[in-house]
Amino acid sequence: MRERFANDGFVVIDDFVSPEARAALRTRALEIVDATDPATTSVFTTRRDAAARDAYFRESGSTIRCFFEEDAFDERGSLRAPKPLAINKIGHAMHDLDPAFDRFSHDARLDALVRDLGIVDPRVYQSMYIFKQPHIGGEVHWHQDATFFVTEPHSVRTLWFALEDANRDNGCLWVLPGGHRGPLRERFVADGETTRMERLDHTPWPTVGTDALPLEVRAGALVVLHGHLPHYSAPNRSARSRHAYTLHVVDGAAHYDARNWLQRSADFPARGLR
Ligand code: FE2
Repeated sequence: MRERFANDGFVVIDDFVSPEARAALRTRALEIVDATDPATTSVFTTRRDAAARDAYFRESGSTIRCFFEEDAFDERGSLRAPKPLAINKIGHAMHDLDPAFDRFSHDARLDALVRDLGIVDPRVYQSMYIFKQPHIGGEVHWHQDATFFVTEPHSVRTLWFALEDANRDNGCLWVLPGGHRGPLRERFVADGETTRMERLDHTPWPTVGTDALPLEVRAGALVVLHGHLPHYSAPNRSARSRHAYTLHVVDGAAHYDARNWLQRSADFPARGLR
């Protein structure tokens, strides 16, 4: 596994998450969505007020917030579709603040896995529950996760849990095998009250149909990504959702950059995986 990870920049471990654990996460995620009032979040997840949207996003690093699909709201701020079908994702600290996600995210198997892949002192900075809705689940452009988690030396690993089958029809991940050996192209930084993307390198992104590989996996699979591995996911045009849960882990032995958008305070530190 270590050799494959070093060569390819990713590994897939089938049957990592039991059907019971998948069902428990799904149930809990839908409860969180159910308890959210979309009227109070519409202003923050649409383009009308950029400052409010930035604040809603930045504060989500230390709490649990719902993010709806871009076109989920009409001009009056009302949802066009039922809440469970309009939600895009939940983030970004449920692994610390929600008991069900906390239980799932702290697991001796994950701790051993990440240490095997070279992380000395795993620290979980971020969790996301991604819904990738039928018909409207949006594209996620090519990016590298280290864009959001700069450490010196580089250390971020992504744990991507397939809670449902993921294939080309419902918007599975696409990766560039070996692409983690390339440079970090962009970094996303906090700048005062706002955030922005900085271009670091002009190496082109991979393209679907030439050098990119679809990671079609069964429900229960765990995909581990190196932080420099370019990846992408297509829109979901199918009638089936593609739920996934992700954790982003960095090495506490590395220096965590002060300009990263997600910062933890001393009274809410990033915990390990056990
Ligand atoms: Fe990503």
